[in-house]
Amino acid sequence: MSSTGLFISFEGIDGAGKSSHIQAVSDAFRAHGRAVVQTREPGGTALAEKLREMVLHDAMDPLCEALLVFAARRDHLVQVIEPALARGDVVLCDRFTDATFAYQGGGRGFDTQVLSQLERWVQALPDHSLRQPDLTLWFSLNPQVAAQRLATARVPDRFESQPLAFFQHVHDAYAMRAQADPKRFALIEADAPMDTVRQSVWRVMNARGYWPAPIA
Ligand code: TYD
Repeated sequence: MSSTGLFISFEGIDGAGKSSHIQAVSDAFRAHGRAVVQTREPGGTALAEKLREMVLHDAMDPLCEALLVFAARRDHLVQVIEPALARGDVVLCDRFTDATFAYQGGGRGFDTQVLSQLERWVQALPDHSLRQPDLTLWFSLNPQVAAQRLATARVPDRFESQPLAFFQHVHDAYAMRAQADPKRFALIEADAPMDTVRQSVWRVMNARGYWPAPIA
């Protein structure tokens, strides 16, 4: 088993069902002897979780929103993600920077050049390269189907309460990020029964050689 760290992010619009699959991926890595850090954004540290509460519930303008998610990300990278990767762990992160391009960039219409600049500052490594996930599983779902799934969900936060058009923009922005970095992204068609979605995830993991498990 490889001793290099592995960084995998899980993305998709609210209601795409990604969270259900993170635990299964985590269990599979552990079964293959890997140490796993399961985490999320915004969040993953005490400070970043406080920032998450603000971002999800307090009124603010899009620049403030972008700065807070990147501030949370910086703390998360420094305190949790980089040390875990240095140990050789697998880091499974429920959302990362693609979510900022999708929600703040696509959804809110905020300047993506500013987001790119923040990305360069926040994710810079000592050798000046950029920390990015090794793999991003994008759970892609028609925003209308996602809205139907969410209609029965708990009390919505500042994003879940947005109209359908917002999620169409979020979806389109994810598609642009995927197109710009096809090696990193794996598209998971999420409008399917849970088992079928899980099999798609397993196929990606097998194809990348992350674990030799048979398709579940
Ligand atoms: P989510 O990951 O869906 O968690 P839960 O399943 O507990 O609702 O919620 C996080 C929300 O934060 C989601 O609506 C997307 C939003 N978000 C941003 O707007 N920008 C970001 O950079 C990140 C990481 C998340």
